[in-house]
Order: sequence, then C-alpha cells, then structure tokens
Amino acid sequence: MNITIIGGGGFLGQKLARALVARGTLDGRQISCITLADVNDPAGITDARVPIKTARCDITDPASVAQVVTGETDVIYHLAAVVSSHAEEEFEEGMQINLHGTLNILERCRELDSVPLLVFTSSLAVYGGEVPDPITEVSLLNPQSSYGTQKAIGELLVNDYARKGYIDGRGVRLPTISIRPGKPNRAASSFMSSILREPLNGQMANCPVDEDFQHYYLSPRKCVENLIRVAEISAGDLGGNRILQMPGRTLSIRQMIDAMTAVAGSEPARLITWQPEEAVRQIVGGWRFDINADRALALGLEADGSFEENVRAYIEDDRPAG
Ligand SMILES: NC(=O)c1ccc[n+]([C@@H]2O[C@H](COP(=O)([O-])OP(=O)(O)OC[C@H]3O[C@@H](n4cnc5c(N)ncnc54)[C@H](O)[C@@H]3O)[C@@H](O)[C@H]2O)c1
Repeated sequence: MNITIIGGGGFLGQKLARALVARGTLDGRQISCITLADVNDPAGITDARVPIKTARCDITDPASVAQVVTGETDVIYHLAAVVSSHAEEEFEEGMQINLHGTLNILERCRELDSVPLLVFTSSLAVYGGEVPDPITEVSLLNPQSSYGTQKAIGELLVNDYARKGYIDGRGVRLPTISIRPGKPNRAASSFMSSILREPLNGQMANCPVDEDFQHYYLSPRKCVENLIRVAEISAGDLGGNRILQMPGRTLSIRQMIDAMTAVAGSEPARLITWQPEEAVRQIVGGWRFDINADRALALGLEADGSFEENVRAYIEDDRPAG
C-alpha cells in the first residue's frame, strides 16, 4: 500500500508518518511506501521498516499535485492548509491553498482510474454563530471565519466526490490539538498550547483569555491514532455522510493548568502571565466547545482519558531535552 501525506512536513503529518511506520500496516495491508509531500521541503524520516520518500508539492498547482498523487497511490492524507489567523489575514492565500488546493487534489483523484482513499482534516471552525448547543452531527455548519468556510466547503466536496465514486473520502473535524510542540504558529488557538508548552520548557508564556475560557481539545498522540482509525472504517459504516467530528474533551484553561501542575509540579504554572489580548479574544470567543462526537466514538475514534495524559505525552514525546 502506498500512502501520500500532503502537508507531510507539518506537525501532524510528521507524527502521522512516524506512527504509520511503527505500525507497518494500514487496514491490515502492508505499507510499502510513504511519501511526505509539502510546499516546504519536509524533514525526512529514516526507518528501515518502511521506505519514506519526500517530495516538494504545492497544492495550488495541479501539475505539482499530479506528481505526488498517481495511479499507484492507495491512500492520501490531505493535511495541507494555512491555519485560522493566517487564512483570515491573507484571504487570497487561504482561498488558494485551503479551497482551490483541496479542489486540485480532488480533481487529480477524479482523473485517475483508481479510487484512492482520501482523509481530509477539517476543523471546529466550521461551527459558529447562532446555532444552539450542543453541537451535534446535525447542527448547521455556520463558520465565522474564512478558514472555517474553506474547511466547510472542503467537507462538502469530499462528500460529493465520494458519492460520485471518484474517491473513498473521509473527513474529520479535529479538536484543537494540545500540547503542540515547537514554536507558536498563526492559529488563533496557538496560546492553547503555548501556555503549557513554554512553562513545561521553563519559559514564560502569556494567557490572553480568562481562566474560565472553555474549549475542546485532543492530544497529538490520540489525534494521530484517530487519523489512522478513520482510514480503517469501512465505507459502508460511514454511509452517506463521510464527515466525522473527532472526539475531544471540553476543558477550561484552569483545568488544563491544574492538569499540568498535577503532572509537573507547581513551578510551570508560575511562569504564566495573564495579559488580555483583545484580537485573540474576539476570534476565540465565538468558538464552540459543547460538542458531541457520538458517531465517531461508536466508529472507534477516541478522546484522551484526561488532560494529564496530554501533558505526559508532551513530556515523553516532544519536550526538548535539557
Ligand atoms: N493542529 C490543530 O490543532 C488542528 C486543528 C484543526 C484542524 N487542523 C488541520 O489539520 C491539518 C494539519 O494541521 P497541522 O497542525 O499539522 O498544521 P501545520 O501547519 O503544521 O501543517 C500544514 C502543512 O501544510 C503545508 N502547506 C501549506 N500550504 C501548502 C501548499 N500550498 N502545498 C502543500 N503543502 C502546503 C505547510 O507547509 C505545513 O507543513 C491542517 O489541515 C489543519 O487545518 C489542525
């Protein structure tokens, strides 16, 4: 089985590739090759168990997509995107990458005689506005950002290309993934990792919202397990709606900090400052957190047992040594 991860140089793409290599199989079939494709040269992964290729690919260019999605490609993970604040500030770039780039990948699949399985990563940003809680499978998609709108359109397209038989499509709305390693990114949710990551690394971090701010989270480990599981669900079990809400946990900032303290002691929490940031508050204040993921849970996707697990996973998998 040949797997191409588009956006394979990114945070989740790299973790997904490592998890697939460690498994060696997907849906009971041997993985023969993984291609990491990204607009920025993806970091290579060397592992004797599975050959891993890297390729430069810009999804805004159909010819570039055609080089990494071929008749030999069995599974495509489409993770490439520019994230929320970035897509909001650079409208044209967001449209080109998140919307037209997704369409280019789907159109490439349509050209092929094969019917590749495609997993698309959507977002909680598809929800918003005047829609009653809790958010369920049948809630109206009412995105309040360009990013959310681009993801919502991507979901519809994945459903339609699957209905037409061009792909075996699946989409998952990811919770906010925390604790994300590395540097802050241009997601409005960036602080939801940095207020834990930086203190766990011995550095200061600012929390721009109040401690009772609630949101819906999942660890990188669980997210990657779920991305693999999504590809293994039988098409029949998905039926006519190929899009799932990936399960997460709703937590306040205070609960996350308490979990960090339970795992790492009281020192990290002292490194958090509390300066309100109006621009961030305005974006995240409209985000939804009362979310029901029953269908995905019934299909075998999972949330973390507790936020302590997220903190431990960061320390074990990602915290820089020293
Ligand atoms: N991490 C989260 O909390 C979260 C939450 C909801 C949804 N998502 C979605 O999950 C996916 C992966 O997220 P991530 O956190 O790994 O993001 P990331 O930014 O780390 O990775 C995305 C990758 O896409 C690549 N990319 C951007 N433009 C491209 C282009 N034109 N052609 C090819 N590649 C391009 C980037 O170089 C980057 O490596 C994204 O689609 C994101 O919208 C993530």
